[in-house]
Amino acid sequence: MQRKVTKAVFPVAGLGTRFLPATKSIPKEIMTLVDRPLIQYAIDEARAAGITEFIFVTSRGKSALEDYFDYAPELEAALEAKGKTDLLGVLDSTNMDSGAIAYIRQHKALGLGHAVWCARRLVGDEPFAVILPDDVIAAEKPCLAQMVEAYEKTGGNMVAAMEVPDEKVSAYGVLDTSEDDGTLVKVKGMVEKPKAGTAPSNLAVIGRYILTPNVMNRLNDKKSGAGGEIQLTDAIAAEIDGPDGVYGLRFNGQRFDCGSKAGFLQATVAFGLSRPDLKEEFGEYIDDLTSSRAASQ
Ligand code: G1P
Repeated sequence: MQRKVTKAVFPVAGLGTRFLPATKSIPKEIMTLVDRPLIQYAIDEARAAGITEFIFVTSRGKSALEDYFDYAPELEAALEAKGKTDLLGVLDSTNMDSGAIAYIRQHKALGLGHAVWCARRLVGDEPFAVILPDDVIAAEKPCLAQMVEAYEKTGGNMVAAMEVPDEKVSAYGVLDTSEDDGTLVKVKGMVEKPKAGTAPSNLAVIGRYILTPNVMNRLNDKKSGAGGEIQLTDAIAAEIDGPDGVYGLRFNGQRFDCGSKAGFLQATVAFGLSRPDLKEEFGEYIDDLTSSRAASQ
């Protein structure tokens, strides 16, 4: 039996330039889908998969992220005085145990592989998860929990995978597979952001990973890849012929690319419609909008 996965790395050092001007002063990961910051969705997913240690790779200008996870005594006292127990419950569900979170800075934006490597001392010699908070996945069983379950059977390295349209494939890490049972694939090749027309398939890597210490060791090489950046994909690909191999899991669930404005808006609508306190009023608005758009066409 392999070791249990209890640590997760959250690379959150990016500048979020696609969301300027908002990201001038707000870290992208604090932007909210309905009323929860993107990072909260990632944390909830990690917790549901049994993660107990949370490692954030941050950068300058991200202190709002650290504050978000801090205890808010004045706010709690004010809510208590007003008897707002429901809101106290909301706050409580976001509180983290002292010592459960660690922050480490990536001093230079050298790529995702480099960001993960910055966490090497905190991760140590054990398997670990990586969650990219931009990829928000709505699923009955959270995506990382699905992966942990599959990983318990296969061991090795595992990435979340999903088919994407031809015109989008160059924006992803892409898998070449040797075995495929429809859900789980065995990976025989991986390429980061392939040039148009050169991708081995349409099966793209989505931002959830379970990785072995060997991948972390590969990152020590600091070789730059696509876009001149140190790519996580390359370090994982180097382990395909290693002792543990690499697997991809076509997860159940709907993934939103919250690194793009359109994806963020889609997630906002989907999460708004799935919220019991909003779905009626918001649903009516969407229905009206859809029918007036249809009528005007
Ligand atoms: C990163 C990874 C890429 C992966 C993608 C998923 O790319 O490098 O392999 O497919 O996340 O969202 P980025 O979106 O940071 O360019």
